[in-house]
Amino acid sequence: MTDGPATTPAAAADLLARFEARIAAGEKIEPGDWMPDEYRRQLIRMISQHAHSEVVGMLPEGAWITRAPSLRRKLVLIAKVQDEAGHGQYLYHAAETLGASRDDLVDALLTGKAKYSSVFNYPTLTWADVGMIGWLVDGAAIKNQLMLAQCSYGPYSRAMVRICSEETFHHKQGKEMVITYAQGTPAQRRMAQDALDRWWWPSVQMLGPHDSDSPNTPLLVRWGIKTKTNDEVRQEFIDEHVPELQEAGLRIPDPDMRFDAKTGHWVHGPIDWDEFWRVVKGDGPCNTERLAARNRAHADGAWVREALEAYAARHEIATARAAVEA
Ligand code: 3HC
Repeated sequence: MTDGPATTPAAAADLLARFEARIAAGEKIEPGDWMPDEYRRQLIRMISQHAHSEVVGMLPEGAWITRAPSLRRKLVLIAKVQDEAGHGQYLYHAAETLGASRDDLVDALLTGKAKYSSVFNYPTLTWADVGMIGWLVDGAAIKNQLMLAQCSYGPYSRAMVRICSEETFHHKQGKEMVITYAQGTPAQRRMAQDALDRWWWPSVQMLGPHDSDSPNTPLLVRWGIKTKTNDEVRQEFIDEHVPELQEAGLRIPDPDMRFDAKTGHWVHGPIDWDEFWRVVKGDGPCNTERLAARNRAHADGAWVREALEAYAARHEIATARAAVEA
C-alpha cells in the first residue's frame, strides 16, 4: 500500500488510521508502504543498535579463538563469531530498507553516538565465559528475537527468522560447554560458577529496563514492532534458564531468587539499574576498548572499501561506454 504524503490534517489522520488498521490485522509493513515517520525512526534506531550489538558482540568471544582448548571448540567458536558478523550485515541491510545510510549508522557507532547491547561491555576472563555467553547471552537474545520475528515490519521480522535459527546453535553449544565444565573437575566447576556469577546479571539486564522505565515500549507495542514488553521477555528468559542452570549444579547469583508455585514463575531479586545505566552511558569495564577495536577494524578495512568503490566506478564507466557504443 503506497500512499503519498498527507496534504491536510484529515488526510494525515486517515493515513495513520489505515496504517494502524493494517497493524491490527497482523499485516506486514513493507519498505515501499506508507508508514509514520516515528515508525521508521524507531525501527532504524532498534535495528541499527541490534546490528551494532552483533558486530561488537564478536569481540568478547573473538578474543578466545586463538586460545580455545581444542580444535573442536575452536571450530565451533569461529563458526559462531562468523555468524554474528553475518547477523550484523543482515541487520544493517534491514535498516537500509528504511532509507538509513550504512555509512551514517556505522559512523554513529564509531563515534559513540549509537548504543549497542550493554552486555558486551564486560570482559571474557576465562574460557568458561565463552560457554556462558552462548548459554545466557544468546539465550536472552533468542527470547528477544523470537518476539521480534513477529514484528510488524517485514524485513526485520524475516531477518529474525534466519538469525534465530543460527542463534539456537550458539545457545546449544554454550549450554553443552558449561554443563560439561559444571560436571567436570573441581577447577572446571569453579570456572563455570565464576562465569555465571559475572554473566547472570548483565544477561538479565540485556532485555532492557523495567517496563516502567522503558519510554519506547508503549509505542513499539502499539505498532507491533514489539509484541511483548521488556519484563515479559525477561521473565521468559529467567523461567527457562534458572532451573536448567540449577540442574547443572550451578548457583544463581541472586539470593532472592525463588519459585512462585502460584504463578509458575521464578521471582528474581532487585536488578542494579544504576550499574546498567552506567554501562549504557559508556562507563562499563570494556566500553572504551570495544569502540577502539571497532574503530581500528574500520580503519584497517578502508582499503577494501576504496577498492570496491574504484571497481564500481570503473564498472560504471565501462557500462556507460558500452551503452554509447551499442
Ligand atoms: N543495552 C544498551 N542500551 C539499552 C539496552 C541494552 N541492553 N536496553 C535498553 N537500552 C536503551 C534503549 O536503546 C533506549 O535508548 P534509546 O532510546 O536512546 O535507543 C533506552 O535504553 C530505553 O530503553 P527502552 O526499553 O525504552 O528501549 P527499547 O524499547 O528499544 O527496548 C531492547 C530495548 C529490548 C534492547 C530493544 O531495543 C530491542 O529489542 N532491540 C533489538 C534487539 C537487540 O538489540 N538485541 C541485542 C542483542 S545482542 C545479540 O543479539 C547478539 C547475539 O549474538 C547474542
